[in-house]
Amino acid sequence: MTYTIVPMTYDHVPQVAEIERMCFSDPWSERMLREHLDNQCAAALVAQGEDGTVLGYAGLLVVLDEGYITNVAVRPLYRRQGIAADLLTVFDRFAQGNHLAFLTLEVRSSNAPALALYEKLGYRRMGLRKHYYEHPREDAVIMTRGYTNAAETTES
Ligand code: COA
Repeated sequence: MTYTIVPMTYDHVPQVAEIERMCFSDPWSERMLREHLDNQCAAALVAQGEDGTVLGYAGLLVVLDEGYITNVAVRPLYRRQGIAADLLTVFDRFAQGNHLAFLTLEVRSSNAPALALYEKLGYRRMGLRKHYYEHPREDAVIMTRGYTNAAETTES
């Protein structure tokens, strides 16, 4: 499957909401997704097939030099083709280019595919948030990838 990674726009919202409903027990609504797009501290990307189908998406919130990945999801039929890794690689380059201290996210402790994905991309388990999720109630694993601030390294 050929796809391109592009910034998410309002036009993508219905398809992304559909992916949310396919992937999560507490999916973001179209309204929540539009609010994310309206947030000047937020960014979102979609992987778009040649026919315009949104195959996957990822969201990021930036607070000062900290990056919080809000969601990553790929349509079930298009998994294990590198789409999530490609989306996260764009955020990784953004983090490096903008001297972020880290990227971090929470993931259900039973979500083996996501844990494997983040570990492959250099994220490390930093702790647990007990009973963080509902439907079903479950702990969240905090996964973080730290970055060395190149400017500080040069000066020291
Ligand atoms: N089992 C084991 N490892 C897996 C895996 C699985 N089901 N899915 C991904 N990985 C790991 C592998 O190391 C993989 O590399 P490989 O295929 O060369 O072995 C690597 O992650 C990259 O996988 P990729 O193809 O980029 O992932 P994907 O596009 O299939 O998307 C998810 C991965 C987790 C986003 C996808 O399964 C998904 O949408 N799940 C439902 C939503 C979700 O749980 N999101 C995460 C919330 S924190």
